[in-house]
Amino acid sequence: MFSSNVYIERRKKLKAEISNGIVLFLGNQEVPFNYPSNTYSFRQDSNFSYFFGLDHPDLAGVLDIDEDKDFLFGNDVEIDDIIWMGKQPSMKEQGLKIGVENTDPLSSLNEMIRNTLKQGRKIHFAPPYRGETIIWLSDLLDIPHLLIQEQVSEPLVKAIIKMRMKKEAVEIKEIEKMIDVAWKMHTTAMKMAKPGVIEQEIAGTIEGIALSYGGPVSFPVILSINGQTLHNHHHGNTLVEGRMLVTDAGCENDLHYASDITRTVPVGGKFNRRQKEIYEVVLNANLKGIDAVKPGVPFKEVHLLAATEIAKGLTALGLMRGDPAEAAKKGAHTLFFPHGLGHPLGLDVHDLEGMNEDLVGYNEEVIRSKEFGLSSLRFGRKLQEGFIMTIEPGIYFIPELIDIWKAENKLAEFINYDMVETYRDFGGIRIEDDVLVTATGHRVLGKPIPKTVAEIENLMK
Ligand code: GLY
Ligand code: MN
Ligand code: MN
Repeated sequence: MFSSNVYIERRKKLKAEISNGIVLFLGNQEVPFNYPSNTYSFRQDSNFSYFFGLDHPDLAGVLDIDEDKDFLFGNDVEIDDIIWMGKQPSMKEQGLKIGVENTDPLSSLNEMIRNTLKQGRKIHFAPPYRGETIIWLSDLLDIPHLLIQEQVSEPLVKAIIKMRMKKEAVEIKEIEKMIDVAWKMHTTAMKMAKPGVIEQEIAGTIEGIALSYGGPVSFPVILSINGQTLHNHHHGNTLVEGRMLVTDAGCENDLHYASDITRTVPVGGKFNRRQKEIYEVVLNANLKGIDAVKPGVPFKEVHLLAATEIAKGLTALGLMRGDPAEAAKKGAHTLFFPHGLGHPLGLDVHDLEGMNEDLVGYNEEVIRSKEFGLSSLRFGRKLQEGFIMTIEPGIYFIPELIDIWKAENKLAEFINYDMVETYRDFGGIRIEDDVLVTATGHRVLGKPIPKTVAEIENLMK
């Protein structure tokens, strides 16, 4: 946990952003795996973590804007719990760790909310994403659960986005620590990527590395020789020479700050000609994308620049044709690069995504596109100092997508379908780094993870 001042300052800042009423933060509850007392690993809600820091279930926090007071609700453990869980700090003690003096049992929350409703004061809350939280809110506010999302406070959502997007120095440090653990995960995966190994052996090993550093993975490990499926969570294939292994994996720590890194390597450790050629195109897009990151630049422009670089590279190889800038403008590259260039990273691996992705990534200046490919870009607006973004271009040969486009002869002036056919069995390549926007440009965070062909072949030797 950070020092109490970090949480005090954050709550103070948030209160200054909201005009009146109270702000209600419900912490997460335990979620059963297959029966009530056999639960998934507990994960605190990111907003609760950000403003109240405490990392166990059944807590709630309230900020009274009008009275300028902070409240923490939670129950002290009793002997029945202590027998199973050991002695725990009292709620009073826990409150002091985060600078909250007013602590009350959880049952008092109902009364406070009822009084606030009676007074006709506004109750602000952020979008809930778990059934348990929706039911809790529904009971507290006396609103049918299906109507809860409609009551979410837009001023609160906007204020939280404004604050959480700009990372504090202490947050950047935590994220860098997690990228350093990702360095261990990815270099281990590279060394294990030999013919005959089953994907799950590597996936299990690198997830174990994350756990051995104290946190879980920040999202289910993506590790596959079928990298053309973007979020491939199947780990049952045996590695064979000629395929490439895409590993998209990161971890989070006890404070829940995440890393998110992708590397793609040739099974056996040596790129063949075709693999090297496509890899260099993705690497160039990754490097040019990173180069373009600085305050004031709309991320949509960075995405389009990377898309143009991909079109340029594929044109040079003969897979595309015509003017690459024109091809990218018309979306021809989306046959190979159908996703966005990146997303914010922080307490959530897709930071703040649950808060309303359009409010996070778009505004009146940059509106989300509805076009295939560009519509998947999670963030388009101007970058600011303190943002952390992933830069993750890729090239994928998705047979089902090729079939559809080819049948329609879609954008055939830019795509050499005859040659694309010969790449149907290629798979996919993605390269992802986590990049901080600095005052004058950017900094790629963490210990550099092998990325060039030479660095990867050297490590895998
Ligand atoms: N880990 C999923 C992504 O890179 O967005
Ligand atoms: Mn990723
Ligand atoms: Mn990512």
